[in-house]
Amino acid sequence: MILQSIRERAAINRKHIVLPEGEDPRSIEAAGICVSENIAKITLLGREDVIKRKADEGGFNLNGVTIINHRKSTDFPDLVRLYHQLRKSKGVTLEESEEIVKDALYAGCLMVNLGMADGCVSGAVYSTAAVVRAALHCVGVKEGFHTVSSFFLMVVPDKKFGYEGTFVYADCGVVIEPTIPQLAEIAIESAHSFEILVGVQPKVAMLALSTKGSAKHAIVEKVIKATETVKARMPELEIDGELQGDAAIVPSVGEAKAPGSTVAGHANVLIFPDLNAGNIAYKLTERLTGGTAIGPILQGLAKPCNDLSRGCKAADIVDAVAITSVQASA
Ligand SMILES: CC(C)(COP(=O)(O)OP(=O)(O)OC[C@H]1O[C@@H](n2cnc3c(N)ncnc32)[C@H](O)[C@@H]1OP(=O)(O)O)[C@@H](O)C(=O)NCCC(=O)NCCS
Repeated sequence: MILQSIRERAAINRKHIVLPEGEDPRSIEAAGICVSENIAKITLLGREDVIKRKADEGGFNLNGVTIINHRKSTDFPDLVRLYHQLRKSKGVTLEESEEIVKDALYAGCLMVNLGMADGCVSGAVYSTAAVVRAALHCVGVKEGFHTVSSFFLMVVPDKKFGYEGTFVYADCGVVIEPTIPQLAEIAIESAHSFEILVGVQPKVAMLALSTKGSAKHAIVEKVIKATETVKARMPELEIDGELQGDAAIVPSVGEAKAPGSTVAGHANVLIFPDLNAGNIAYKLTERLTGGTAIGPILQGLAKPCNDLSRGCKAADIVDAVAITSVQASA
């Protein structure tokens, strides 16, 4: 299964991941698993006595896990200075920066920015919007890009679809109504994410309600223009659009509706025109196929920071750590 292969790849090139929600028992358990299975080096943020007590209560082994109370750490002033430097143009004062950086979510992302860790995983307690906002403020967007978005690795039981049943679906979690340039960046980033996590050449379908002009509307025009933008920016990328869902993944329909396309019928990266479509599609796919949706995983950041579902278990955190490590190695 894809997650096992990602864990194995993370273990080959062990990265240092910070878990800001270090006092949450799920983070503590996950930290122990990551270190004992050699998946990553882990730093938990929080009060050492609280974390150790919870580890004892849960029977979790913290050998090899670093614990930092960032508020008392000698690095705290550096984190505050960096945050102030990043946000002062927005009117944030040094005093306000100090208050904000007391929040472990911000401290964790700033540690990644400073190179004190390779990636950050949070969201067991914080909301998606809070996690994304901290990453945007403290790590920022990758050079040459303007958009941070998210994707799900979707694994469906029927292996004749996508790459042996595996797809990237995007954006299903962050950019609500993407502009044409944003949609183009979501496609480029998603292709890259597919390549680094699945290890296979991406075939990107820009999805819409029509295939190759079968319907005319501004919402279709946006997808066509985004496809043209990607083709101009990355001529070597296999991408086609606009395509309907069936034309994207069913070879016979792809051939009938988009003859000559190397993507139609064989797509493994599905780009939805907006967050409504993406979010609805991933939830329905998961339920109707008995598939697994892994994510949301953030992309487009200068350094990897990832979100968790608040209902996550320790094993989900371990998977997110492995994914973040592989992103950090790319
Ligand atoms: C991600 C999100 C939180 C950003 O919210 P926001 O209100 O724009 O956040 P901020 O105003 O603090 O923006 C931070 C900065 O990042 C920028 N920014 C916002 N979204 C961005 C994105 N997707 N990519 C790159 N930059 C972005 C803003 O323009 C702002 O820039 P500035 O600081 O230079 O002014 C918001 O898009 C959101 O809530 N998305 C939906 C998340 C969600 O609830 N998903 C659940 C559905 S599954």
